[in-house]
Amino acid sequence: MTTKTYDAIVIGGGPGGYVCAIRLGQLKQKVLCVEKDEVGGVCLNWGCVPSKALIATSHTFEKIQHGATVGISADNVRIDVPKMQAWKQGIVKKLTGGVRGLLKGNGAELLYGDARVVGPNRVQVKTKEGATETFEAKAIVIATGSSTIEIPSFKFDGKQIIGAKEAVSLHEVPKRLLVIGGGVIGLELGCVYQKFGSAVTVVEATAGLLPGVDPDCTAVVEKALVKRGATIVKNALAKGYERNKDGSISVAVEVKAPDGSVKQEKIVADVVLVAVGMRPNGAGLGLEEIGVKVERGFVPTDNVGRTNVPSVYAIGDVSGVPMLAHKASKEGEVVAEVIAGHKAAKDWVAIPGAIFTDPEIAVVGLSETEAKEKGIDVRVGKFPFAALGRAMAVNETDGFIKVVADKNSHEVLGVHIVGPSATDLISEGALAVEMHAFLEDIGLTIHPHPTLGEGLMEASMHALGQAIHVMNR
Ligand code: NAI
Repeated sequence: MTTKTYDAIVIGGGPGGYVCAIRLGQLKQKVLCVEKDEVGGVCLNWGCVPSKALIATSHTFEKIQHGATVGISADNVRIDVPKMQAWKQGIVKKLTGGVRGLLKGNGAELLYGDARVVGPNRVQVKTKEGATETFEAKAIVIATGSSTIEIPSFKFDGKQIIGAKEAVSLHEVPKRLLVIGGGVIGLELGCVYQKFGSAVTVVEATAGLLPGVDPDCTAVVEKALVKRGATIVKNALAKGYERNKDGSISVAVEVKAPDGSVKQEKIVADVVLVAVGMRPNGAGLGLEEIGVKVERGFVPTDNVGRTNVPSVYAIGDVSGVPMLAHKASKEGEVVAEVIAGHKAAKDWVAIPGAIFTDPEIAVVGLSETEAKEKGIDVRVGKFPFAALGRAMAVNETDGFIKVVADKNSHEVLGVHIVGPSATDLISEGALAVEMHAFLEDIGLTIHPHPTLGEGLMEASMHALGQAIHVMNR
């Protein structure tokens, strides 16, 4: 039997892998993409996209419930969870079907199976049908993503002790939801279920929610969560649980007080969502056996995405943080270009982050603290959504836009937004940071009125002491 050969084999069909395979196809490379589950990876199948469908629905549900403020009366507003789930699954189906179509349309072959690297240019695949096939390729791209971290004392049972995967597919709204981990997943899904009526408790190990995010932004989200009835327990570790006779679960939580003393608490819940992070899927692929460096599951690469073995590349979550779909896709494009012999590199200035809580948080570039830590003299402009006509008109005035710039050159170093449509608004900030734009570039650009985007223009002018709709310092 002759071994099939390719220019490149991409292992993993998530937003890193499928984008890489499509670009390779566009660049006339003979490419095989191997996926063990379904194309689209975590992002399309149970992560980014499905969760956004639930988030949007919960937002609409809440808006209708509180419609009286804006003159909409509706009685007996209910949520039909199975119907919502079917709608959400329809979106997943459309998107994964679209990806398959794009792979095919661009000449990339797709094979369902479990791949293992057996040489610097050799991949073995145990196909879904049970056959074992071996392929050769000039380049191998590892795009295997990351997996949910499980806490040993909270082994997933798929029903009451669950991870994000199950949490986006619940067919009932839990009465009491305990979220372990006040990070991105915990708060996004916590927001969803509290809007659907769950009593939500968040148990977070550290002293603050969303570690790494500007605390001014986090404070706005925390306030909103609490206002909607959530209980937030910080400096707290969930240690274990017991099942109660009525079917509920009692979770033992160890809470550290500011004086260092430790208190034991019991929190009763119907469902426990564990969201304490993801770990990279770099181990068990045969990489170490062929000399590829794997560090704590990550596969380190250089600035073109190449590992220490020149024919092997890595992209996305498995190649390093931040574990974000848009970073994976960009790396996929870069690596495809490099394999095809083009000049490309991972030379971006910053990677934006978007958190779909309510209100949303979106950030790009340096925070005020990070800039100061780098010894940069900064000027900061801030504009509250409460001063923006459009924010009032959509009845979402919590939050602000903050611009961090170099005090002397006025170069925009970072943009931090908490508030309505923050995740859409951040793209203008990302462009500014990427282009090394100055405050004046944003401030002097005419922004359409009345839009939320005016807030970024005003924040930039505020940093210059020239904002119109807020007092300057
Ligand atoms: P995360 O790293 O964002 O948050 C985990 C949280 O759990 C942290 O606050 C941590 O202090 C806390 N924690 C850890 N162990 C704990 C324990 N034993 N008890 C209590 N708290 C504990 O991880 P998360 O939320 O699971 O998200 C995973 C990844 O998925 C993130 O790295 C993120 O990159 C990605 N993601 C991104 C989204 C977005 O950009 N909108 C949405 C969802 C996920």
